[in-house]
Amino acid sequence: MLVTGGAGFIGSHACVDLLDHGYEVIVVDDHSHSTPQVLNRVERIAGRFVGAVYELDIRDRRALSAVFDRHSVDAVVHFAAHKAVGESTRMPVQYYDNNVGGTTSLLSAMHEHDVRQLVFSSSCSLYGDTGGGPDGGPLDESTPPAPVNPYASSKWLCEQILADVCRHWPELAVLCLRYFNPVGAHPSGLLGEDPGGTPDNLMPYVAQVAVGRRKQLRVFGGDYPTPDGTAIRDYLHVMDTVEAHRVALDHLAGESGMRVFNLGTGTGSSVLDVITAFGSVSGRTIPYEIVGRRPGDVARLVADASAIGRAWGWRPTRDLSTMCRDAWHFQRLNPNGYAGSARRPGRRE
Ligand code: UD1
Repeated sequence: MLVTGGAGFIGSHACVDLLDHGYEVIVVDDHSHSTPQVLNRVERIAGRFVGAVYELDIRDRRALSAVFDRHSVDAVVHFAAHKAVGESTRMPVQYYDNNVGGTTSLLSAMHEHDVRQLVFSSSCSLYGDTGGGPDGGPLDESTPPAPVNPYASSKWLCEQILADVCRHWPELAVLCLRYFNPVGAHPSGLLGEDPGGTPDNLMPYVAQVAVGRRKQLRVFGGDYPTPDGTAIRDYLHVMDTVEAHRVALDHLAGESGMRVFNLGTGTGSSVLDVITAFGSVSGRTIPYEIVGRRPGDVARLVADASAIGRAWGWRPTRDLSTMCRDAWHFQRLNPNGYAGSARRPGRRE
């Protein structure tokens, strides 16, 4: 199993889950937004070694192809991508280059080595400002994509490329998982979300306020048409997220063509709901002030993620309180994230 972006937030949790379930795991990561030391922790939790770790940019076709030459890869889970919405509006070309170029480079290596199974990290952001499904209800996979920023567009472009490649490469099996808002951490407290610099996303920001690294949270918008005026999202525990990938891999063998599934809980939580839940599990007060809306944000995004349950039986089991508890556990044990954790001894290949 090749995992691109295996040292990142979701990728590292996926590696643990795959190792726990007997998969051999090879990681490729350029460490542009992750630290190599994370993989020591992955191995510590799993009690098994990652087969090999390659520090490379997947757009480097020759280097990527060499990885496929050296290992007998039967499937790929592709997490490696840039994911900051705001940044994508300032650096659109880099986002297309990295996210779309990385995916085509990966596809070409897979084709060259006849690797026929791929799980692709997609995003609910491609639904854009659809304002929820019919009557503002949950969004299912038939909602027409309408991306409103380069990050979301890059994910939608990748999905379209993958669909077209599947049409012309009939043995290829692709699953696109459209994540809503993955948050939380491994229950051990050893792995979690450690964004470099100031967090863009809500949960890591709240966690850093709770631990005293930041003074207060700015709540972006208190005038949305929602019950408490703050925006609603569908938060999903990262362990539920990665379990869906493994369930998918268990089903992809022998399949062909492309499928698309939403990944969420179907439950919407407002920003204030998250602050309340986090305050309650951490016992800390989360100071906040309500400020103007963040450009590009939408009022409500909640998944109808029942299709993957009907197809393969995946259902999330962890609620918002568990997501906050695990995020807090990680933050408390690692107040400065992974900074200062033991260096990874030389690369094993
Ligand atoms: C966005 C993307 C998602 C992407 C994710 C990761 C959309 C619709 N979604 O999620 O696809 O995978 O980023 O980068 O583009 N908030 C605050 N204060 C903060 C931070 C956030 O109030 O300091 C609010 C936001 O306004 C939003 C909610 O918290 O209402 C969640 O924000 P965030 O965690 O950044 O996720 P999304 O923007 O939903």
